[in-house]
Amino acid sequence: MSLIRAASALLATSMAASVSATGVLLPLYLYPSVDYDDGAANWKPALEAIAASPNVPWLVVVNPANGPGATGEPGNNDVNYISGVQQLNAHDNVQTIGYVRTDYGASPAEELHANITNWANWASANVGVSGIFFDETSEDSFDYLNTAITHARSAFGAQQIVTVCNPGAAVGAEFYGICDVVIVFESYLNNPGFPVYEGKATIDANTPDLSYKPQAAVIVHDFVGAAADGRAADTALLGSYVQEAKEAELGWVYYCSAGYESITATPATVGALAAAF
Ligand SMILES: *[C@@H]1O[C@H](CO)[C@@H](O)[C@H](O)[C@H]1NC(C)=O
Repeated sequence: MSLIRAASALLATSMAASVSATGVLLPLYLYPSVDYDDGAANWKPALEAIAASPNVPWLVVVNPANGPGATGEPGNNDVNYISGVQQLNAHDNVQTIGYVRTDYGASPAEELHANITNWANWASANVGVSGIFFDETSEDSFDYLNTAITHARSAFGAQQIVTVCNPGAAVGAEFYGICDVVIVFESYLNNPGFPVYEGKATIDANTPDLSYKPQAAVIVHDFVGAAADGRAADTALLGSYVQEAKEAELGWVYYCSAGYESITATPATVGALAAAF
């Protein structure tokens, strides 16, 4: 290898290392506990996967009740949520994110903003979240979303937050200006319709501008049976999708083999996903 090629290889490596690595965006919607005050037993597989992958960043979305919960209190005044969130926050590679539902711009803004303020108040009880997940965002509700995100950044004050938006589709550049993370695909593995999931092809189709890829996320649920291209849904396919995402410098992925109510359905258990990195 010539000196010049060696130098450019070195440069390419250090540049790649400087972009944030692909991480996991986990919708941890399942209730933390089986029994009262059991230390968030239902979340143990996720906590173990997080501990087993210290170099993988995780965004973990928590969602007591389509939002922060009816009590309006930090941790929804629930020992199980308090324990679970504290255990998540104990990991350096985790940012815990609070869920709100925008209903494609139809949720009343006041209610949405109150829920965001409520999430910001979780910090007062040592169960702070690091950002807000805006579910069901749509391309035609940009102003609504922009107002909600502006409210969120002010509700958290000096704390720098992560805003995650879920249009589940390709969206315009303006969304990447206000959302730190944009979910560009959310579907089941063998969806024969739009858009057919073929690993990197979908990432490229839904994230047209290379510079957006570190902000983009792909979520595949019901990773079972076979992909639309006939490949069997197994840990080898899971591994190849994760590697494709890393090569494409995609920001975030999530795969699971059921809906979001299970993190242990095979083959794409939360542990298998962590191991695929
Ligand atoms: C606000 O939070 C409550 C309680 O979790 C939930 O029932 C409601 O749907 C949420 N509304 C919005 C707009 O997030």
